[in-house]
Amino acid sequence: MKNLVLLISGRGSNLQSILQAEREQGWGVHVRGVISNRADAGGLDIARAYGVPTQVLAHTDFPNREAFDRALADALDALEPDVIALCGFMRVLGSAFVERFAGRLVNIHPSLLPAFTGLHTHARALEEGVKWHGATVHLVSSALDHGPILAQAAVPVLDGDTVETLAARVLLEEHRIYPPVVRALLEGRVQIDGLRTRIQPRESAP
Ligand code: GRF
Repeated sequence: MKNLVLLISGRGSNLQSILQAEREQGWGVHVRGVISNRADAGGLDIARAYGVPTQVLAHTDFPNREAFDRALADALDALEPDVIALCGFMRVLGSAFVERFAGRLVNIHPSLLPAFTGLHTHARALEEGVKWHGATVHLVSSALDHGPILAQAAVPVLDGDTVETLAARVLLEEHRIYPPVVRALLEGRVQIDGLRTRIQPRESAP
């Protein structure tokens, strides 16, 4: 059975969408744990409600990024993850960490990458006046928000949108596109060729 671990920092709505899909669809995987870098992350309660073991690894307890990354890597190794899904995990991971878990780290980012890497994506999309915005699921590489794209969803930017209304429209799409990609990774249905990827449908999976 494949092992899934999820990393969070906050609210945990993407975490919930994945746990709910796994439960409803019966993925046949072992959800080994949820690790948060913040003790007050709301997602920890969601994990507990689904009966998933939780751990808090506070980045503030470590002298620098490398020390935190090493502790996180050790905590992950103990859980033997086949896939590590970042669900609103707000720490940049160093290249040694990313290389150690290469191909197993997946993230969701609230923009149509490669537009709007980094933070405050919805405010920046409104400022730039784009007519379409959205979300991207991508593999994590050492270039921030630049790993191979696995799925995207676009939403229109409407007259009168605020950061809140736009973020809410994007978030609905996040919850729709992230779980099937996590499942595909766990089932080995993702092919990668440079930055181009292809996800085999379940029916034709070997
Ligand atoms: C989401 O918008 C996600 O794309 C971004 O952080 C937010 C996390 O929200 N990386 P949640 O904790 O999953 O509700």
